[in-house]
Amino acid sequence: MMEPQKMAKPAIILTRLITAIVIGSNLTAAWAAPAEQTYRLYCVQCHGILGNGEGINQTSGGLAVSPLGHTNAEQMSKLTDEEIRQAITGGGDAVAKSELMPAWGKTLTAEEIDVLVLYLRKMCQCKSNR
Ligand code: HEC
Repeated sequence: MMEPQKMAKPAIILTRLITAIVIGSNLTAAWAAPAEQTYRLYCVQCHGILGNGEGINQTSGGLAVSPLGHTNAEQMSKLTDEEIRQAITGGGDAVAKSELMPAWGKTLTAEEIDVLVLYLRKMCQCKSNR
């Protein structure tokens, strides 16, 4: 009989592989790697390493308003690219949403924010439906 501990390793490898495929697929464009790096530096603590809204700040019970799941096509398609850009630049305040979403306009350049918008669209595999 296999011990549970011996089972863990292949399971972890498989999880990482799936994660890599989910996040890494279609990320061959030149902007993709820098955008992913920016996302990992500034966004994952709330939005999650998978972009599903399950970052550590959320899962530890710290946030009163749930971060948007960037992989959630239904929710993401309700936003235009311009609204996403405004939310990232000016934070929740700028788009009449929770100020738990910080403003990044002083940390990131306009170009970095533009590629983040592209990155979020890759994550949701969606466009605005408006
Ligand atoms: C400190 C936690 C936190 C961090 C860090 C954070 N966010 Fe958010 N974000 C939130 C929360 C909470 C919401 C949901 C706000 C609401 O629905 O009222 C949100 C919402 C959003 C939205 C949707 C806005 C809308 O109009 O519905 C976008 C887009 C977004 N975040 C992008 C980002 C990006 C890109 C980064 C990294 C540069 C980032 N966020 C970093 C907490 C965070």
